[in-house]
Amino acid sequence: MDKRQFIKNMALTSIGAPLGFAGLAKSFAQKSHVSNLALASDDTFWEEIRNQYLLKPDYINLENGYYNFLPQPLLNKYIEHIKEVNYQGSYYMRTVQFENKKNITAKLAKVAGCSPDALIITRNTTESLDMIIGGLDWKAGDEAIMALQDYGAMLDMFEQIKNRYGVVKVMLSVPNHPKNDQEIIDLYKNAITPKTKVILVSHMVNITGQILPIKEICTMAHEKGVQVIVDGAHAFAHFKYNIDDLGCDYYAASLHKWLSTPLGAGLLYVRKDNIKKVWPLLADGEKDLSKINRLNHTGTHPVHTDLTISDAIDYYAVIGVERKEARLRFLQNYWTQQVSNLPRVILNTPIAANRSCAIANVGIEGIEPAELAKRLLKEHNVFTVAIDYANVRGCRICPNIYTTTKELDSFVEAIKKLSNNA
Ligand SMILES: Cc1ncc(COP(=O)(O)O)c(C=O)c1O
Repeated sequence: MDKRQFIKNMALTSIGAPLGFAGLAKSFAQKSHVSNLALASDDTFWEEIRNQYLLKPDYINLENGYYNFLPQPLLNKYIEHIKEVNYQGSYYMRTVQFENKKNITAKLAKVAGCSPDALIITRNTTESLDMIIGGLDWKAGDEAIMALQDYGAMLDMFEQIKNRYGVVKVMLSVPNHPKNDQEIIDLYKNAITPKTKVILVSHMVNITGQILPIKEICTMAHEKGVQVIVDGAHAFAHFKYNIDDLGCDYYAASLHKWLSTPLGAGLLYVRKDNIKKVWPLLADGEKDLSKINRLNHTGTHPVHTDLTISDAIDYYAVIGVERKEARLRFLQNYWTQQVSNLPRVILNTPIAANRSCAIANVGIEGIEPAELAKRLLKEHNVFTVAIDYANVRGCRICPNIYTTTKELDSFVEAIKKLSNNA
């Protein structure tokens, strides 16, 4: 970005977004008679949302999966919280800090669909899941089932548990295009032995965007006395579900992904009867083993991030859970339908509505994923991320609600050219 554009952008930041929360709520209210499906494809309407984002003009951002950065109204709230906490200093920390966090946790629990007594705010999915993986009472010979497609940090944590306690890692591989739910359920079921203690499973596989049948896996596992740890890093505030309905034992998500909070916010759900089974990462003074707050000792941390979770929930509510999901699914379908049947183009994501949402992965025969990502950026101004492991070879494509069909047209054109289908 050149200096003049940067200054222009910064000026825009200080002026603020064209619409605040109230303006946005009004716009959505005016569309209350329009179905979610019809609204999802109305780019003119979503342009109002797009205007709330300060977008780098250098490239089309189709990598919103790592960090779903904040729209300006939310960023302004965050900056206000930073200023306020800095103004109040220790007074804030010694008076309302903990009460505020408790209230925000309760608000978050409503969105997550679980009891506030079973939920804590953490820094991210990694912290949440590693606390569980590292905090269970392991014995040598215990088996833990996980997939090659699970997130690396969790697999690394299990490697540590293996080295530390002699736990056996049982690896399976999730197919990119399962025939049906049963195929996935059977995959996990067939890996269970009398020594199996837990299953780690991704709600949405991060490298492909495939959604797995979590509820059914939990039911099957519980019938066999096996606990289920769910990695929901990409699922939360992306598509609609309730943690309680899933019936899992542990659930983690990153809020800086699809909820668009500032960096460093996550959640951990622990089913109430499991709380006492977990040794926390950082010990707390709470003596009652059944209290979730004994898993939430953080030390002094950026409380303004916690405060902004509340605003991000409000922002999400204004958009509407179903409306956001419909928009994300529309955007994914818009490009996948145009490339899925092209020669040399390989879609690594099942595109049925129950198996994916915003995220999909595409590869081109004869082009290495890293090369594809490089050429997409260099030759077509499209920013993505290359994936080249666990039977997935391609680029992960992650639009967000502000993405336009015009941007996706450019991406589709790029895929056609690169695969000699133009
Ligand atoms: C499936 C999955 N799990 C865990 C993580 C880790 O998230 P965080 O870095 O926010 O802890 C990610 C990050 O992309 C992910 O995709």
